[in-house]
Amino acid sequence: MVPLSVEGIDLFAKLEFCNPFGSVKDRAAFWILKSAIESGLVTEKSTIIESSSGNFASAMASYCQLLALPFIAVIDPNIAATNEAFLRRTCSQVVKVEERDDVGGYLKTRLRKVQDLCANIPHSFWPNQYGNLRAVEAHYTLTGGEICQRFSELDYVFIGVSTGGTIAGISRRVKEHFPAVKVIAVDAEGSVIFGGPPKRRYIPGLGASMQPELVKHAQIDDVVLVPEHETVSACQELLFRHGLFVGGSSGTCFAAVKRSLPKLRGTRPPQVLFLCADRGSAYLDTVFNAEWSKQLAPPDVVAMNAKENAA
Ligand SMILES: Cc1ncc(COP(=O)(O)O)c(C=O)c1O
Repeated sequence: MVPLSVEGIDLFAKLEFCNPFGSVKDRAAFWILKSAIESGLVTEKSTIIESSSGNFASAMASYCQLLALPFIAVIDPNIAATNEAFLRRTCSQVVKVEERDDVGGYLKTRLRKVQDLCANIPHSFWPNQYGNLRAVEAHYTLTGGEICQRFSELDYVFIGVSTGGTIAGISRRVKEHFPAVKVIAVDAEGSVIFGGPPKRRYIPGLGASMQPELVKHAQIDDVVLVPEHETVSACQELLFRHGLFVGGSSGTCFAAVKRSLPKLRGTRPPQVLFLCADRGSAYLDTVFNAEWSKQLAPPDVVAMNAKENAA
């Protein structure tokens, strides 16, 4: 956890990209696989099959390699090129779906593909990162435990949401330890998780085109929806002003903190934490590419922000 200088609040970033395989998803992948092995659901005959926007599959592929278990990753065209390259070098098989679902995303198509594969491959195991309570347990025990150990006071935690596992586990743990803490869910505009209208989204990691089951287990005080062009400016600001090279969902959380500043500031600077789920490397061709980012906002907005941040 590192401090950032932002006027009026004591802001900290929790760098989840320091996990062994590079993202917050290491937690859920590790815990789900460990539990499945302990309960006998996964044996040496098993083939693991999962849908992922990149990070969960990268973590699962790596743990499966360590255990010599075959892993099939089901991905979609929004995946970052470096994540896809990593998966093609580590998975037994990578299946890329191309068809959008009824709300313009790929999640439902990916999940249908996982079901097809599971039906046809003997001894298949679907970790179901979207509904597996072990993901919540992972974040309650590991990520949430670390936060409670590090802080003596905590007022706000900003957490990006996709499957909801991270926010469900952390929110339950921090609220036990700091009863007055406010947990703020952060999502991308166009994601339907919190009931907003669906819209095409380009940045992988956050959001979903359906409401994931695990979100029901989270204790959320407020939701902030961030447009994708604001994610781009926030990632640039984190890199150029704060020295943090982080991915899209981290930028989205930072943008949500900035949007909330008037509400956060009080008589004493509140202790505020946001999660940096992965590193910026996988986003060099997208979020950190001014040409690519033009599709997210009127060109003057993105160009102006890039110029300001570089100055
Ligand atoms: C970069 C990134 N940030 C945030 C999340 C959200 O985590 P969760 O699925 O636990 O809600 C994900 C999930 O895939 C992610 O890849």
